[in-house]
Amino acid sequence: MSTARQLWRGAHLVTLQGQQGWGLMEDAALITEGDQIAWLGPQSALGQGGSAELLRDLHVECELGGALVTPGLIDCHTHLVYGGERSTEFEMRLQGARYEDIARAGGGIRSSVSATRAASETTLLEQARARALALMDEGLCTLEVKSGYGLSLEDEAKSLTVARQLAELGLTVRTTYLGAHALPPEFEGRQDDYVQAVCDWMPQLQQRGLVDAVDAFCEGIGFTPAQTQRVFEAARALGLPVKLHAEQLSDQGGTELACSFGALSCDHLEHLSPAGIAAMAASGTVAVMLPGAYYFLRDTHLPPIAALREAGVPMAVSTDHNPGTSPVLSLLLMLNMACTLFRLTPEEALRGMTVHAAQALGLGDRGRLQVGQRADLCIWDAQHPRELAYYFGRNPLRLSVLGGQPRQR
Ligand code: NIG
Ligand code: FE
Repeated sequence: MSTARQLWRGAHLVTLQGQQGWGLMEDAALITEGDQIAWLGPQSALGQGGSAELLRDLHVECELGGALVTPGLIDCHTHLVYGGERSTEFEMRLQGARYEDIARAGGGIRSSVSATRAASETTLLEQARARALALMDEGLCTLEVKSGYGLSLEDEAKSLTVARQLAELGLTVRTTYLGAHALPPEFEGRQDDYVQAVCDWMPQLQQRGLVDAVDAFCEGIGFTPAQTQRVFEAARALGLPVKLHAEQLSDQGGTELACSFGALSCDHLEHLSPAGIAAMAASGTVAVMLPGAYYFLRDTHLPPIAALREAGVPMAVSTDHNPGTSPVLSLLLMLNMACTLFRLTPEEALRGMTVHAAQALGLGDRGRLQVGQRADLCIWDAQHPRELAYYFGRNPLRLSVLGGQPRQR
């Protein structure tokens, strides 16, 4: 790995250090060494005695002219790899059909499963790459991708392999095995057998280096808490962390179950109960807010944001990019919707796509501007970080830096 040292001066740093506040440092500078942040502080410190050591071996020096620098953005919940698209379902829903009814009639996730199975690895990669690039244009540096549109050992492996290949773009990719997403047609009427298969495939996928975490869809149209528990037990036996699509359409008590397994995150949470909130606070589980799905399903049942905040549960914000409920490819729009729809503050929204998103992925090495953290940076043409959530349909990103390397476009 290159250990080149780079100096970024004239920066307005948004460090997000500490539990609260933006952690702003105006007239600041930052030095990266290899893929890490080696130093940050007031620019004036560079001219003082003792700064010679700091300034040694600088490979590049870049004047930012007061541009805003935030930690690189992290999308901690996506279903980015799939074949086909579902715009006909969008039309059906506009005519009054419900998401659950389309799913029960064999559409929904299952229609994406057919298209994903039919697609070659090359086609899936080409399409997923275009989506990832769109997200990177708005500052994406770390991406989580779930499987769940393959639903057979080979098709899940194919999807996860494609997800891993996205790392060629320079970003960090974390993969989540979501075999328990929907029941594939060949298991019709045999849901418990399918859950067993999901558990049996897990060690094989793990041995192929394809699994960082395990997720499930615990819902009336998904899997029961008892079935979810079996999947989580299999994950625990392999030392894999768990996450859950929980309480999106109804309260199933999935959150309490996930928290009893020390889940990294519970995601969606529109129907989360007070008991679920207490469980999350006790287990330190991150609540992942997905305003894109809420908006696109025209949901009106808000997640209990104020109670989560009150209980001190860390909140992340993510796209949930998927062809059915959230075909969005804009991180900045999600920051805006987290505020307009869910009433997060702009600071909570940005923390949700940096510090808390990292926590939802179990990554302690990123999410803040701090010495020793990974040098994933976003450089924005903006005066104040709240502007990132304020505008929508405008992209102020000047440059992203991935592991110390400026992204070439
Ligand atoms: O996160 N809720 C389940 N999974 C996805 C939707 C998947 C789909 O409809 O294709 C979600 O919203
Ligand atoms: Fe999802």
